[in-house]
Amino acid sequence: MKKLRVLVLMHEDLVPPESIAGLGEKEFQPFRTEWQVLQGLRGLGHEVRAIGVHDDLRPLREAIEAFRPHATFNLLEEFHGVSMYGQAVISFVELLCTPYTGSNPRGLMLSRDKVLAKKILAYHRLPIPRFGVFPVGAKARLPRRLGLPLLVKSTSESASLGISQASIVRSPEKLAERVAFMHGTFGTDVLAEEYIEGRELYLGVLGNSRLESFPVWEMRFGTWDPELPRIATARVKWDAEFQRRHGIATGPAQDLEPTALRTIVHATKLAYRALGISGYARADWRLSPDGRAYLLELNANPDLCSDEDFAQSAQAAGLAYEPLLQRILNLALSYRPAWKRAEE
Ligand SMILES: Nc1ncnc2c1ncn2[C@@H]1O[C@H](COP(=O)(O)OP(=O)(O)O)[C@@H](O)[C@H]1O
Ligand SMILES: [Mg+2]
Repeated sequence: MKKLRVLVLMHEDLVPPESIAGLGEKEFQPFRTEWQVLQGLRGLGHEVRAIGVHDDLRPLREAIEAFRPHATFNLLEEFHGVSMYGQAVISFVELLCTPYTGSNPRGLMLSRDKVLAKKILAYHRLPIPRFGVFPVGAKARLPRRLGLPLLVKSTSESASLGISQASIVRSPEKLAERVAFMHGTFGTDVLAEEYIEGRELYLGVLGNSRLESFPVWEMRFGTWDPELPRIATARVKWDAEFQRRHGIATGPAQDLEPTALRTIVHATKLAYRALGISGYARADWRLSPDGRAYLLELNANPDLCSDEDFAQSAQAAGLAYEPLLQRILNLALSYRPAWKRAEE
C-alpha cells in the first residue's frame, strides 16, 4: 500500500493533544473521533498531520501548500459555527486541487438542507413521510394533507438537536406550540413530518459511483417504557448514563422482511445518487409495524467514531476500522472533481 501524506481537517477545538495519557473519559470524549482517525491513519503507515479550523481559511491553505497532502481527510462539520458552511470549506479544498474524503460540496449541501433534500427525494418517488414547512415568524396551522401525530424538527439542525418526546405532537394546538418553541430556540425554519411509529434503522453506504452498503443497523430501546414513543431523542442519542440505565444500544437489525430490506438498500442508494453524495453516508429509516419503510434523511460524512453505527456496521460487513479508513481514502483519490476532468 502506498504511503500517503494525509491532512486531517477538523474543528480547531477538537485537535487532540500529543498524548491522551491521564485524560478522563469526559475530557477525551469530545475529540474521540478525531483521535481515532489520526491513530488509525498512522496505524496504516501514512504520514499524518492535523489541521484545526474555526473561522480562518489561511492556515488550511498554508498547510496544503507546505505539506502537499495526497488527500485531506475531512472531519470538519462547520465553519464560523455555521454547519451549512462546512461544504464551503470543502469547496475551498477542491479549488486548491486537493482530493478530500467524504462527500463533495454539492452532496453535503443538498443532504444538510432537509427541505430541499425531501423535495428531491419526493421527485424520485422515494418513500418519505409527508411533511410541511413552517418558516420563521409564520404561525403553524395544520395543513389539511397532513395527518396527526406529527414530528416537529428544525430544517437544518442535526444530531437530534431539539428532538425530545415533546417533538411528537398530537393536536393542532400542540403543533403551534412546538413550532413556536423551535422557532424561538433555533431561529430556523421548522419541519413537521408525519410521525412513523415503529423501528429505528440505519444503513451505511460507501462509494462514489459503485455503491456498497453495510448490514442494516437498529437502535434497540431495551427496557424503555413500551408505552412511550421509541425515537432517537437528543438524550437517547448522547446521554451515556441514560443509555446504560435503559439498555439502549445499536446493533444488527434482526428478522427484517426481505421486501423491507430490499426497499431500504435500494432506496438508500437511489437517494445517495439523487442527492449527489460521494464518499460515504448513513441513511436514517423508520419501519412501521405494517412493514412499510420510510426514509428520514441521508447523512453525508456521518461520525466515524469506531463505536458509532457507521464503523460498527462496516465491521459487521468484515471491514475493520483501519481498512475502512483506507477505503475512504481510496475513494477520495478516485473521485473525479471538475478540475481533474478539465485537465484530461
Ligand atoms: N417522521 C418521523 N417519524 C418518527 N420518528 C422520527 C421522524 N423524524 C424524526 N424522527 C426521530 O427523530 C430522530 C432524529 O431525526 P432526523 O430526521 O434523523 O434528524 P437529525 O438526526 O438530523 O437530528 C430520528 O432518528 C427518529 O428517531
Ligand atoms: Mg438523523
